[in-house]
Amino acid sequence: MTAWAEHEYDVLIIGAGGAGLRAAIEASSTGARVGVVCKSLLGKAHTVMAEGGMAAAMANVDDRDGWTTHFADTMRGGQYLNNWRMAELHAKEAPDRVNELEAWGAVMDRTPDGRINQRNFGGHRYPRLAHVGDRTGLEMIRTLQDHGIHQGFEVHMEVTVTDLVKDGSRIAGAFAYEREHGRFVFFKARAIVLATGGLGRCYRITSNSWEGTGDGHSLAYHAGAQMRDMEFLQFHPTGMVWPPSVRGILVTEGVRGEGGILKDKDGRRFMFDDIPDAYAHQTADNEEEGWRYIRGDKEARRPPELLTRDHVARCINRQIKSNMGSPNGGVYLDIAWIKEHITDHTGHIKKKLPSMYHQFKELAGVDITEEPMEVGPTVHYAMGGILVDPETQMTTVDGLFAAGECAAGLHGANRLGGNSLSDLIVFGKRAGEYAAKYAVEHGDVHPDMAAVERARLEAEMPFDHPDGENAFSIQNDLQSLMQDNVGIVRTESEMQQAITGIDSLKQRMESCGTGGNRDYNPGWHTALDLKPLLTISEMIARSAESRKESRGAHHREDYPDKDEQEGRLITIIEKADDGGMSLTKQELPPIREDLVAIIEENQKK
Ligand code: FUM
Repeated sequence: MTAWAEHEYDVLIIGAGGAGLRAAIEASSTGARVGVVCKSLLGKAHTVMAEGGMAAAMANVDDRDGWTTHFADTMRGGQYLNNWRMAELHAKEAPDRVNELEAWGAVMDRTPDGRINQRNFGGHRYPRLAHVGDRTGLEMIRTLQDHGIHQGFEVHMEVTVTDLVKDGSRIAGAFAYEREHGRFVFFKARAIVLATGGLGRCYRITSNSWEGTGDGHSLAYHAGAQMRDMEFLQFHPTGMVWPPSVRGILVTEGVRGEGGILKDKDGRRFMFDDIPDAYAHQTADNEEEGWRYIRGDKEARRPPELLTRDHVARCINRQIKSNMGSPNGGVYLDIAWIKEHITDHTGHIKKKLPSMYHQFKELAGVDITEEPMEVGPTVHYAMGGILVDPETQMTTVDGLFAAGECAAGLHGANRLGGNSLSDLIVFGKRAGEYAAKYAVEHGDVHPDMAAVERARLEAEMPFDHPDGENAFSIQNDLQSLMQDNVGIVRTESEMQQAITGIDSLKQRMESCGTGGNRDYNPGWHTALDLKPLLTISEMIARSAESRKESRGAHHREDYPDKDEQEGRLITIIEKADDGGMSLTKQELPPIREDLVAIIEENQKK
């Protein structure tokens, strides 16, 4: 029996969420031989957790919208640390990508005159989120899967990639294992697209499911790619808090987009307490103003629950920490109150938020049409990730591309809700297109087969220590360490504690082990997840420690203000020659003049 099975592709896509599938469709359309590897079953991706919609300036609900406003909103939400070219491409191309999805069969909610409906979301000036109730990500995946399956790419399900292999400085393949029988696989590829999504599983409370272990981030880093801005981690303001078994599961921002309001234990709407300067002029100053906006009055102002996620999460955190929260450590999110204004409010909520209705009814025994939900922040999304070229999505390693959540730049210091789904389809398409082009232009590769053998030995290592420490306990300790020390509000000493703690967990990982054999062995799989989990945790903690200011999702108690100089710098992380982690700061390139004018124009509005 050979030590591993082999497959060969022009383009290998690692990850089968929105970005991976869109890249696979595009690469296949050029005639390239394409393989798609997914850690889980096809169709099960964190994309489905972007429930409330995809942002695209289609101007179907408010005709004042356009790409310039979407661009300016994205830059302001990201506190100007965004890659401005990515923000421009994203705002310009998102409407075409959404229309394309519809042409491929996505069934979206409609306006009364039959156009794709768009709803409000935090930080977006106009109703901009094309949606399908609260199941938008699911519909995106269903559509891409149905369309993609006819494009001729091969899918490898339940396969986890542990190492990337190179040919000199160029990417040449990926080493992986199959979950079911533990067989090893080597994929030789002329180009690779990483589309592995997020990394929330290094925290205890997260909306990410078990696959979200930062695999693509870690694979790219160990292959020598530069990373950026790992300090910026999005805590979605509203995850479930009760019962404990479902803690962290997402409660879509769509609830607030449809009029849901946040209240403390006394029923007070605390979001009016703190309106950031950048939004003060367009924010409602009483409940009536907020409500009028929701009813679609174009002249009305925004409700404060729709401020950016970083801000809302901090406000909720403050209420919880000052004992003003709900009994189970959250706050209240109330959509039932709309009964005062809508006759059939039950039908309305069930139509607009069907998944939320069922989620709370079945998991928590709460009828959201009559009672408030208990919610609290949950780790949801990494703004930081692999540094990519804005046009092609190529990383700093030749032939290695990245798209979607594992790639960085578009969102800067904080992502606006809904910008992730459009990110996936805009940059997934670009990554697929340019990866296929690269494969054609650069011809065959000769992978370093000694590196493949090293990857195999490393993957088998946990079996060398059948009595070694259980990987689950190391993962558990890491999750607590990150949750407690690199959270929504950060301090120097806590982050130092996290860095020291990660070092000792790395030692423990060396001797962790598993019994049994390679047939479906969760202990072994978890042992192999530790390397990416510890790699990304170290990146987050070290980057967070290095940014001595508060900006977007990165908030420091010891440096509570923005620092103008730091605000022009991005954090670059790469593997040093001695194997350690190197961090440097790099100045952002100046924003193109016409785009500066667009930003300034929008700041006046
Ligand atoms: O709240 C949500 O539906 C999540 C959307 C997103 O993360 O873009």
